[in-house]
Amino acid sequence: MQATIPAGLDRKEAEAYGRLDPARLPKHIAIIMDGNGRWARRRHLPRVAGHRAGVASVRSTVETAARIGIPALTLYAFSEENWKKRPKSEVDFLMGLLCRYLKQELPTLNKNNIRLEYIGRQHELPPAVQEKMQRAREETGHNHGMVLTLALNYSARTELVDAFRAMVDAAACNGGLEHLEIDEDSVSRHLYTRHLPDPDLVIRTSGEMRLSNFLLWQLAYAEIHVTPTLWPEFRGAKGHGGFQGLLNLLKRVLTAVVLIPIVLLLVLRAPVPAVAAVAALVALLTVQELLKLAEAYGIIPMQWPTYIFRGLRSSPFAIFLCCCRHAEV
Ligand code: FPP
Repeated sequence: MQATIPAGLDRKEAEAYGRLDPARLPKHIAIIMDGNGRWARRRHLPRVAGHRAGVASVRSTVETAARIGIPALTLYAFSEENWKKRPKSEVDFLMGLLCRYLKQELPTLNKNNIRLEYIGRQHELPPAVQEKMQRAREETGHNHGMVLTLALNYSARTELVDAFRAMVDAAACNGGLEHLEIDEDSVSRHLYTRHLPDPDLVIRTSGEMRLSNFLLWQLAYAEIHVTPTLWPEFRGAKGHGGFQGLLNLLKRVLTAVVLIPIVLLLVLRAPVPAVAAVAALVALLTVQELLKLAEAYGIIPMQWPTYIFRGLRSSPFAIFLCCCRHAEV
């Protein structure tokens, strides 16, 4: 059967999609996003730069999954262990990144008809983060396309403990423990993922063969795909890395270096309002270049201008290839 090619795929992706049986695409993909730190270390950047670059992969993976019609995608964004093992500054940075993602991505999530959900002990997250999560969930609640579930402060063992406690509590409220019924269905109904089918494909980036306490019950029958690709590179060639990344960086340094004297010259020599306006424009461009430069090094003095100017789109090929392996006819 010839698949109808979804809009927005490039030539290579469309070719690959054409070889698929859409009926055999995974119904639920779970992803363990790993390798942000290593990605940064290889570039002599701070770890947080890896997390920032990871958000771009989140963005392209989510969009592609929705576009090719995957009904559910679950991303392991923040494990319960992350609280204990990582320095506070990194945890705070990740929380800030999440808040910004939830705010900025709302239009894209709505455009792609994506509904946002969460799994994990949300009540243990900082109140400001919980508030943003709640708002994002409400504002995408009417969407009926892909369900994007973020695992935040998540641990599969804790999920099972919470499920068993909920079952005991329910039985106690329903006439006593003699009414406690435990079977596979009742456990599934009390998991955080009760709104989802079990994943049929789990992807782990950066090569490690571990489940790291992720969806242990739900992954019982899932196909496992481990790729050596680091999470920030889990997309195509137009991303941050490699030779192209270096070229972009050089381009920015040069542009900023050329623009700064032009601004100074215009401001100092021209009192006329029109020239002042040009100077302001050039100054804005200079700021843009400097912010992009800072972003490449994980130093973000102010968030909003970088997003006003954000233009870089990455190829969504990586998740696509995983789906192809799963659904090839
Ligand atoms: C593992 O990399 C990844 C994480 C701890 C978190 C993933 C977070 C993001 C991709 C960004 C924020 C997420 C959202 C949804 C906005 P690591 O630091 O463990 O890498 P390493 O094993 O190479 O050190």
